[in-house]
Amino acid sequence: MSAPNSNYDPVEVTALHADEVEQFRDAALEAISAATDLDQLRVVRTAHAGDRSPLALANREIGALPPQAKAEAGRRVGQARAAITAALQQREVELLAERDARILVDETVDVTLPWDRLPRGARHPLTTLQERIADVFVAMGYEVAEGPEVEAEWLNFDALNLDPDHPARTMQDTFWVESPESGVVLRTQTSPVQIRAMLTREPPIYIVCPGRTFRTDDLDATHTPVFHQVEGLVVDEGITMAHLKGTLDAFVGAMFGAGITSRIRPAYFPFTEPSAEVDLQCFVCGGASVGDPDNPCRTCNSEGWIEWGGCGVVNPRVLVACGIDPDRYSGFAFGIGIERTLMFRHDVRDMRDMVEGDVRFTLPFGTEI
Ligand code: DAH
Repeated sequence: MSAPNSNYDPVEVTALHADEVEQFRDAALEAISAATDLDQLRVVRTAHAGDRSPLALANREIGALPPQAKAEAGRRVGQARAAITAALQQREVELLAERDARILVDETVDVTLPWDRLPRGARHPLTTLQERIADVFVAMGYEVAEGPEVEAEWLNFDALNLDPDHPARTMQDTFWVESPESGVVLRTQTSPVQIRAMLTREPPIYIVCPGRTFRTDDLDATHTPVFHQVEGLVVDEGITMAHLKGTLDAFVGAMFGAGITSRIRPAYFPFTEPSAEVDLQCFVCGGASVGDPDNPCRTCNSEGWIEWGGCGVVNPRVLVACGIDPDRYSGFAFGIGIERTLMFRHDVRDMRDMVEGDVRFTLPFGTEI
């Protein structure tokens, strides 16, 4: 039986000498107080209190000491390790407090900072154009009239002399709110506002109505199922086609610049007689591209004119349906597409840009609120 500590080797246990232990402890305490954040402290803890730290290794040597030296060495190493553990704990508390204080400063939210730094947005160019159009007519003495977007079939069609078998009344064109029997539609044109105006006002009537209209078209570069029109209606004594033409020219000039005029071509609308299509003189070439293959105009396809809307002298049958004496009064009306107007006025090539909500399209129109 071997005697205890028979393999005692004084060289190996120099780590247990009092001054060695003190040095390990002091080095540890110094490193602990030098640690300036929790990450550094973690490294210091591993180096000076971990399994492979000098004092942990020294501790393992205690067993190799003669019995009489064990207690003394054990106490010495134990005290040094306890001092290190306590210093680590204390430093950790300090560094945690420092970190928390720093986070409070770094992550402070300044509630006094301005809150509205996001761009505010602006009204859509179609909206501002509608207002601009209304302004042109208000300046000429017109009133702005309104009508509902969900409209009675009778006002949208019948009262406008559109027979029940008129193609515009078929399912392809019209959004019915319930079934076709409901008699309620999303208005396919702003023309029912003419009827509403004539039913509720006494002549003389001078109204303009920009508004939203609906047809069952697919969305593409030149169609959108939700679109806008501006309707104009005048009913007064002695109104003729000449008044209509002069008014359209004033409107065109205000929209596209002085000197640009309109042209009317025979057409058919059930609610006007005679009826006409309104064309706009090409505001890019002014007609100069017509017959000049060397200078083609892509705006008017070198035709000199651009289709813009419909117009005419109010059909006496419509006046009668609204209780207005056609022997005393006559009138004119017109309906113009606002999307088309925006496209011509601002060289917009694709109607889808108007509905997709991309600010890259709307920003160049300005940020009018
Ligand atoms: N409402 C017609 C349409 O949507 C346009 C129109 C034509 C309106 C002639 C009028 C008019 O007031 O007189 O196609």
